[in-house]
Amino acid sequence: MNCREHLNQLDTPLEPALLNDWHVVAASDEVVAGTLYPTTLFGRDLVIWRDSQGQAYVWEDLCIHRGARLSKGFIASDKVVCPYHGWNYDGTAQCTLIPASPNETPMKKAKAIAHHVKEAYGLLWTCLGEPEHEIAPYEEWHDPRYKKVVCGPYRFKSGYRALENFMDPTHFPFVHAGVNGILESPDPIGPYDVWEKDGYLHTDEVRLTQPYGDPREVPVIAYYAYKVFRPGVAYFKKRLVISDPERAHEGNEADRFCTFFTMQQVSETESIIRITCAMNFDPQPSDADVRRRQDLVYAQDAAIVDTQRPERIPTDLREELHHRTDLLGMKYRSWLRAMGIRYGAV
Ligand code: FES
Ligand SMILES: [Fe+2]
Repeated sequence: MNCREHLNQLDTPLEPALLNDWHVVAASDEVVAGTLYPTTLFGRDLVIWRDSQGQAYVWEDLCIHRGARLSKGFIASDKVVCPYHGWNYDGTAQCTLIPASPNETPMKKAKAIAHHVKEAYGLLWTCLGEPEHEIAPYEEWHDPRYKKVVCGPYRFKSGYRALENFMDPTHFPFVHAGVNGILESPDPIGPYDVWEKDGYLHTDEVRLTQPYGDPREVPVIAYYAYKVFRPGVAYFKKRLVISDPERAHEGNEADRFCTFFTMQQVSETESIIRITCAMNFDPQPSDADVRRRQDLVYAQDAAIVDTQRPERIPTDLREELHHRTDLLGMKYRSWLRAMGIRYGAV
C-alpha cells in the first residue's frame, strides 16, 4: 500500500462517490505563484501551490520526513521547502534535496503526497482518489457572449444544506425579501418535473417574480431551470423577462443569468461555497456589482441555513417534512442516499 492509499484509509474512509470525485478547493485567482495555501477538504489538511509556469499542485499538507506542515514552509526555485529540516520537493512531488546531506540523491520514497488537479470555470479542483467522472459541464463558460464573474468564498455549515438552499426557490420571498422575492405576496410554485439523465438531476422551468431579479436591478419574471451534477456541484439557468413595461425595452428574449455552484466540505459541518456567474444581457454589470449582490444574497442564506438542525443533512425522507414544492430537494436527498453518501449526512 502506498502512502496515498494509506492516508485514504485513515479515520473514517471516505465513500467512493466523494473520494473519486472532483472538489473545488480554491478559486484559481486565490492561488498565486510562489505562495503556499493551506486548506482542508473532508477533514484532510492540504497545501495548494503554483509554480512559475502557472501549473497548480494540491498535496497533503504533510512532509514525509517527520510530518511537519509543508504550508508553514516556503517556495524557492519552484520547489516547496519544508519548514522543519528544509527538504525540497519539486513539481513531481519528489524530494530533490536533503540539506543535511546535500550531495546525496534523495531516495525515491521521499515524495510529497500529491493529488489530482484541474482548473475549470475560474476554480481549482482536486480529486483525492482516482477520478471517475469529468468535471461537470458549464456551456456558458465557453460562450464569449457571456460575462463571467467568480464570487465567494462563502462560509456555511452543511454544504449539502447550502446546495439544497441554492435550488430551493420557495425561500426567496422570506430570506431575500425585496431582492429575489416579495414578502407580502410569495409566488405560488406550480408543479414542476425533476428527472435524472446523463447521471444528473434536471428540472423544467420554475416561474418566479423578482423585484430586483438580476444585477441590472430591474423587476423581472424569472424562469429557473436547475441541474444537480454531483453531490457538491449544481447549476441554474435563469431566463429573464423584464416585468416593468416602462423598462421592458431594456430586455431581450435571449437574456439569461446562470450560476455554477460548488461546495468544498471542510468537515461534516463546515463548508466553503464558491460560484461562477455567467450573464449575457446588456448593459453588462461590473464585476463589483455582481459580487455585491451575490455577497448579500449568500449572507442572507447563511444566516438562516446555518440555523438548520441537525447540521448534517438527513437523507432519509422519513426525517423532516417534505412538500411537493420541495421535489428537487427530496430527489437530491434520495440521490445522495442511493450514492452511499455518509459524510456530512445523517
Ligand atoms: S519534517 Fe520536513 S524536512 Fe523534516
Ligand atoms: Fe437563497
